[in-house]
Amino acid sequence: MNVLVTGGAGYIGSHVVRLLSESGNYVISVDDLSTGIGDRLDCEAVDLTLEDPTSIKRLTDLLVEKNIEVVIHFAARKQVGESVEKPEFYFQSNIGGLANLLTAMRQAEVKKLVFSSSAAVYGMPDVEKVTELDKTEPINPYGQTKLVGEWMINNASVWGLSAVSLRYFNVAGAGWPELADKQALNLIPIILDRIERGESVLVFGDNYPTDDGSCIRDYIHVLDLARAHIDAIDQLGEPGNQVYNVGTGEGSSVFEVIAEIKKVSGIDFDVEIAGPRAGDPPKLVASNAKISKEFGWKAEFGLSEIVNSAWKAKES
Ligand SMILES: NC(=O)c1ccc[n+]([C@@H]2O[C@H](COP(=O)([O-])OP(=O)(O)OC[C@H]3O[C@@H](n4cnc5c(N)ncnc54)[C@H](O)[C@@H]3O)[C@@H](O)[C@H]2O)c1
Repeated sequence: MNVLVTGGAGYIGSHVVRLLSESGNYVISVDDLSTGIGDRLDCEAVDLTLEDPTSIKRLTDLLVEKNIEVVIHFAARKQVGESVEKPEFYFQSNIGGLANLLTAMRQAEVKKLVFSSSAAVYGMPDVEKVTELDKTEPINPYGQTKLVGEWMINNASVWGLSAVSLRYFNVAGAGWPELADKQALNLIPIILDRIERGESVLVFGDNYPTDDGSCIRDYIHVLDLARAHIDAIDQLGEPGNQVYNVGTGEGSSVFEVIAEIKKVSGIDFDVEIAGPRAGDPPKLVASNAKISKEFGWKAEFGLSEIVNSAWKAKES
């Protein structure tokens, strides 16, 4: 199969590129390396910024020349805090970029797409496990761009687009040390970064209505997530946009993550309690019943493998 991956130099995209290449597919990445790392790329690559108006022609030509059958779209800005500060930039990048990509795909008659969506589309759901049928009420511009992205993709069924949108929960770990997450934006990389610098670790809120008072999240190993994209490709065919949660269905609290990192690293770092952050739901755990049933997908790794692989990557 010939696959175009946007954001192939990124953390998640590079894992998917590697799985696709290993199973004999032709892969080409488009990426402007704004947050990606060139060394992660082990496929053909084109330097291109998706929201740039000239990208429509370049993408269309590439899709046709390379005979692309499927596009997997990762390239986007993903920092919630930054999206609150610079909402226009997030809409230009994430929505403008997707609009250009869809325009090029329509012109080139490429009708299969897998889209990186996010659990951020749910906002603050007050449920034990969130399902794809729960309300989507994003509480920040980043989450809004992912939801609007899903709507744009729904609308593209008018020209025959067949799509799967995967709503990722908390992605962590590394399938290969050199592809590890180098941006300290999520809990596990942030903790590893702080202990490397000999700093204490901050816990934002210990008075939530959870067993130990800290927030609970669903941590999904990047390799399990990458596999879900390969499975998603097999589902493409009929016009429409199918939405799936990708999480383990199990929650871990911040204190549980800290305990696991202490165990794996052998470092007894200090922990400080800070006030809760606005917009942090106490618990965000996926129901993965839909993807399990329809793809036969299930997570192979849990928190221990996630932390072990992230720690090993940090050490290497
Ligand atoms: N990491 C997570 O926990 C998580 C959770 C939910 C959803 N997502 C989504 O998954 C996708 C990939 O995330 P990631 O963690 O690999 O991020 P990343 O920042 O490591 O990768 C994004 C890649 O896309 C490229 N890129 C970004 N904007 C671009 C643009 N406008 N034009 C061309 N290239 C561009 C970057 O250079 C980078 O290589 C994103 O869409 C993100 O919103 C990530």
